[in-house]
Amino acid sequence: MKKTIKTVLGLLMVTGLAMVAQAATIPEGMGILPNNVPVPANNPMSAAKISLGTQLYFDPALSASGQFSCNSCHNLGTGGVDNQKTSIGHHWQRGGRNAPTVLNAAFWSKQFWDGRAPLLEDQAKGPPLNPVEMASADADTVVARLKTAGYAPLFTTVFGKNALTYDNMAKAIAAFERTLITPNAPFDRFVQGTGDISKAAKRGMVKVAEVGCTSCHSGALFTNNEFVEFAYGSDTGLKSITGKADDDHVFRVQSWRNVALTAPYFHDGSASTLAQAVKIMAKVQLQTTLSDADVNDIVAFLTTLTGDQPQITFPTLPRPTGVSLDWQD
Ligand code: HEC
Ligand code: HEC
Repeated sequence: MKKTIKTVLGLLMVTGLAMVAQAATIPEGMGILPNNVPVPANNPMSAAKISLGTQLYFDPALSASGQFSCNSCHNLGTGGVDNQKTSIGHHWQRGGRNAPTVLNAAFWSKQFWDGRAPLLEDQAKGPPLNPVEMASADADTVVARLKTAGYAPLFTTVFGKNALTYDNMAKAIAAFERTLITPNAPFDRFVQGTGDISKAAKRGMVKVAEVGCTSCHSGALFTNNEFVEFAYGSDTGLKSITGKADDDHVFRVQSWRNVALTAPYFHDGSASTLAQAVKIMAKVQLQTTLSDADVNDIVAFLTTLTGDQPQITFPTLPRPTGVSLDWQD
């Protein structure tokens, strides 16, 4: 009896020590991706709304040509991005910025590199009418198109009668986007004690804290969700919206979650590899030159932040019978 108690105590001590030892190696603030996304009070989630949002997300009927859906530039098969320097939209035009991922976007303080859309709901109203993206003439045109496609009953189920509006379209898409969360990254399993990461990744994990990357890329999201100066390139960032000198070259600190999937990097897509992005960041943000060995370790660490990708069944989209929709050139 006595012996059993001793053994149990011994085991407890050993496990306790092991946990302390592991915790000590994880820099302060780093942690597991949260699973509770913020949901605005005026757009509660429901299964029907998420299902409608999935259809709208994949529906090229939001674009004038009938060729571009949200998924064209934010491809959920490739990390929620198009892996283009800057995206291709209507008439094969290139926009001015790189497409950031929609994965985990529900956690960002504001949407877009310059934060000009506070919520996913605001953001989703932009692309259908953006002339270099989906290029529909106006909100009424999009609504009329969705009506002809056969969406009205689906909107009624989710929002009530006469509810096929541009605002409700954005709400449904936003609800779907709030499901695009990527848990279980190797790093998260390491933190939970259910998995391990390579030695190089562990060195990289310590290095990013040591050199100061995590002053901006902090916490479980690996971003403090703030807007800071990034004195690089010709895009003026937040200043292009506010006109204020203080906002010159100010951009949102990008999350490191899934960053290994989203090359090329930065708002202008100018860094073609993750290693290059890491080197530039150290130089521009921290006035530090990293050795190639340190860069490799940091890249190994960043790669451990790729989580489980959402598994989505491509939805069947409503369409009229025996006639195509009225696409525009
Ligand atoms: C033609 C390509 C293209 C299409 C189509 C497109 N987007 Fe985007 N998206 C972009 C680009 C480029 C940006 C960054 C623009 C900026 O910051 O100025 C962006 C930004 C975003 C963001 C902000 C993410 C962040 O990290 O700030 C979200 C969310 C998003 N798009 C969702 C959507 C949804 C929903 C649709 C469909 C209604 C859509 N996009 C259609 C290219 C596209
Ligand atoms: C002063 C704040 C700050 C510090 C310190 C910082 N970053 Fe960043 N990081 C940013 C901002 C802001 C962006 C967005 C840049 C843009 O708009 O193109 C960014 C973007 C990135 C990107 C590209 C993400 C993408 O999706 O394109 C990587 C990779 C990155 N940082 C890694 C690092 C590393 C590694 C360090 C340390 C060596 C570091 N950062 C230090 C603010 C910071």
